[in-house]
Amino acid sequence: MRVTVIGTGYVGTVTGACLAYLGHRVTCVDVDADKIARLQRGELPIYEPHLSELLGEAAVRGGVDFTTELAPAAAESDVIFIAVGTPPGPGGEADLSYLESAARGIGAAMDAGRFRVVVNKSTVPVGSGNLVEALLREGIRDTRPAEEKQTHFGVASNPEFLREGCAIADSLYPERIVLGAEDERTLGTLRELYRPLTEQSFAAPSYLPRPAGVTGVPLVATTLTSAEMIKYAANTFLATKIGFANEIANICERVGADAKEVMVGIGLDSRIGSRFLNAGLGWGGSCFGKDIQSLLHTAGEYGYQARLLEAALAVNRAQRQIVIQKLQEKLFILKGRTIALLGLAFKPDTDDLRDAPSLQIAERLLQLGARVKAYDPIAMPACRAQNPELKIQYCESAFDAVRDADGAVLVTEWDEFRTLDLAKLASLMQQPILVDGRNIYDPEAAVRAGLDYSGIGRSTRQRVAPVRVP
Ligand SMILES: NC(=O)c1ccc[n+]([C@@H]2O[C@H](COP(=O)([O-])OP(=O)(O)OC[C@H]3O[C@@H](n4cnc5c(N)ncnc54)[C@H](O)[C@@H]3O)[C@@H](O)[C@H]2O)c1
Repeated sequence: MRVTVIGTGYVGTVTGACLAYLGHRVTCVDVDADKIARLQRGELPIYEPHLSELLGEAAVRGGVDFTTELAPAAAESDVIFIAVGTPPGPGGEADLSYLESAARGIGAAMDAGRFRVVVNKSTVPVGSGNLVEALLREGIRDTRPAEEKQTHFGVASNPEFLREGCAIADSLYPERIVLGAEDERTLGTLRELYRPLTEQSFAAPSYLPRPAGVTGVPLVATTLTSAEMIKYAANTFLATKIGFANEIANICERVGADAKEVMVGIGLDSRIGSRFLNAGLGWGGSCFGKDIQSLLHTAGEYGYQARLLEAALAVNRAQRQIVIQKLQEKLFILKGRTIALLGLAFKPDTDDLRDAPSLQIAERLLQLGARVKAYDPIAMPACRAQNPELKIQYCESAFDAVRDADGAVLVTEWDEFRTLDLAKLASLMQQPILVDGRNIYDPEAAVRAGLDYSGIGRSTRQRVAPVRVP
């Protein structure tokens, strides 16, 4: 099929590359001329494992190109994806201005020549499908009023569930595809588009073999509204689950239980499940925070107060401050101290810093008068460019960052930090204080290595004194 993807961010670029890999002819469009120029030169504006290889193969298979010109691509396409950003507005509501501008642009490009399906892949509040339809009609009416009645199109919602860092695998081997549409023709077009995925009939890339047991992908067909809600329900559930783990961890810490052990103990219950039960600094990234806020805003529009979601947001905000408290407990005064941050990205295998806990932690440390050194394997250039006001000293390695530091905070659980020589780390520091914000180290091993270790909700066994019977 002929496909246009609007927005070449984390979602749009991956979606475009995967659809072209499956054999569709794809054009990716963005208003950011610099991004498009880089993509045309074969450079990636984002860090995502395997995306570069996949784009190379996609160009040969279905074909993929990049442009700032929406109209010619949209006019020729059977399916047009909207994958633009929907950042939070001042009151927490999703800012739909990018979506609106994309929808108007598509409308202005549509003619009676073919049936087209316009698909919302951006995370958008309930009702946005209707808004897109209205804007498309306006666009057609303004540009080709004579063709309005003969111009046929469908609007669908196809929420995206990819995770940055493993976005290609998530797109080629998804656990489900959700399609919200109100008519069979629209749904049929998208079923056809996704057939190679649902039937898993494509040849898997050599660097991402098909996982054992993946023989097909369920397609969940719903109404537009349900599809829009599914995305918010999924993200707010996961954010709440992490918040729950942190809440329990904070209690564990006070009573002398080990949060990691507790999470293993509850996670093996299949009704609970072990994923997203990691206590730590809380979630960050471009989605959870904005999606909770957006859903709270929607609920508010209907006069409903979603208390559980409010609490999940509040628990996460507080969680980021826990690191500062732990450093204050150890060092008392942070003014003039040097604190090393290991990791900046909101999670491993991405350079995305949107709503990253590292930024708030660095900001607070700097406010308190500390010097902040940092090392991240991938996200340092992005951090430097996006946050020039943060006076962080960027370092060449984790060891470089902790050298002569009074404390270190493990912020992002990059693989290379898991295997760090902790004894060397301790020996390089002025004061060997380590706050393990992701609970990746064994507390006893860290203490043996000479570190003054604290995790989130963890106790080293030697702290546990037996209860004496009088
Ligand atoms: N990043 C994720 O992991 C993820 C996962 C699932 C869903 N989502 C959702 O997908 C959407 C996109 O997220 P993202 O992280 O890819 O965003 P992003 O900010 O990385 O990319 C958005 C792109 O859209 C472009 N754009 C904005 N207006 C445009 C227009 N009118 N025409 C053409 N291009 C335009 C921007 O220049 C930018 O390059 C959001 O709604 C997000 O919530 C994101």
